[in-house]
Amino acid sequence: MSETAVEKQSFATYKKNNTIEEGDNVVMYLSKENMSIIRVKDGEYFNCKFGSYKHSDMIGLEYGTKLGSNTGRGFLYLLYPTPELWTLVLPHRTQILYIADISFVMNYLNLKPGMSMIESGTGSGSFSHSIARTLAPHGHLYTFEYHQERVNAAKKEFEEHGLSDMVTLRCRDVCKDGFELEDKVDAIFLDLPAPWEAVASAKKAFKQNKVGKICTFSPCIEQISRTVTALNEHGFVDIQMYECLIRFNEIRVIPMWTIDEAMEKQRAIEKKRKRATPRVVPADNNNAQEGESSSSSGHINKSAKVEPSVDDSNQSSAAATPNSTTGSEMEDSVSTTVSTPVIGSETTASAAEAEPRERIEPKNVVVTRLPAEQRGHTSYLMFATFTPATQGPSLTETKAAAAAAAASSSAPAK
Ligand SMILES: C[S@@+](CC[C@H](N)C(=O)[O-])C[C@H]1O[C@@H](n2cnc3c(N)ncnc32)[C@H](O)[C@@H]1O
Repeated sequence: MSETAVEKQSFATYKKNNTIEEGDNVVMYLSKENMSIIRVKDGEYFNCKFGSYKHSDMIGLEYGTKLGSNTGRGFLYLLYPTPELWTLVLPHRTQILYIADISFVMNYLNLKPGMSMIESGTGSGSFSHSIARTLAPHGHLYTFEYHQERVNAAKKEFEEHGLSDMVTLRCRDVCKDGFELEDKVDAIFLDLPAPWEAVASAKKAFKQNKVGKICTFSPCIEQISRTVTALNEHGFVDIQMYECLIRFNEIRVIPMWTIDEAMEKQRAIEKKRKRATPRVVPADNNNAQEGESSSSSGHINKSAKVEPSVDDSNQSSAAATPNSTTGSEMEDSVSTTVSTPVIGSETTASAAEAEPRERIEPKNVVVTRLPAEQRGHTSYLMFATFTPATQGPSLTETKAAAAAAAASSSAPAK
């Protein structure tokens, strides 16, 4: 490849040169809860709470670059778009599959590079992207959606994400008209309101001389019940159901004090409190800054409270605390990270500044914390296996044929 040639981006793999080029999709990562995706175009801007970012400033930068804003108020990371990130930033046209179900389903369907697979409906294309990456580079995904606008939007995204060579998207009602694919695929995934109506056609679509896997995704147990009946009816075996939940834990580093250190720290605070200069906090204005008084004369106002001028321990210790939070989250998280003060942090007490102070450094420990909100919606996952013995007539057809045969053999000979 020549130096000036643009390397086409694909969500199914990484770019060799790892460089942002015009037309690339880039995930703008401010924090875990604040990400979006842009398509880089000279002359356009990305705007966020930290200010404006020129697209043209990103061209030529490496993926993973930390980019400060023009206002100097914050920064973000420029990330390569993977199927996992796409699931978090995509425009929602429907409910979507999240990573817990995606990874579980792909594992149980035993998906591998080179396989062929059917998915329906395409919906917002969340699962389609992960499937495409797993089957790449030589496998193929046939995805079916009956809603024309969703088809158009997904088609555009597959093209812009470098996946159109390995994804065939068709607009059709698979429950009414079937897949029109025979002896073709290794796996099938159905995220439909009535998956049982597509089971007969699914059976024909499997490679008939191989073992294949089917999975259906349904929020209600009634749907599961009807699907199990249809799968049994059509000779699928090994029918199992799961529900998959994921709980994300945030990892942080916080200082951990021993009892001795904590006692020593408390003694030092008491000592400092005793020798600190009083400061004025206006009674009617708890938010007033240090040094501000409601009296203009400089005297202590009678309505004001007098408090010893100890440092704001929580704030100073938090600022001194390392934590694992990335990106602009730093801004929001520092005040909640630690509740213990660091002795010897900056104070306004002039007496305290006169002598050198002893600094007690705690050990840092790694802790985990559950975020307030966990994203993901759950459904029942129904798995079944197609074997070469599955092919042929359904149970009802077999019974009807047997009944017809019995009836004809018991009929009196003419
Ligand atoms: C929940 S969404 C699928 C979401 C998708 N799994 C994702 O991760 O983005 C279900 C989709 O199935 C489509 N659908 C429903 N019945 C259908 C049918 N009989 N044939 C084709 N598509 C159908 C709906 O239009 C909808 O877009």
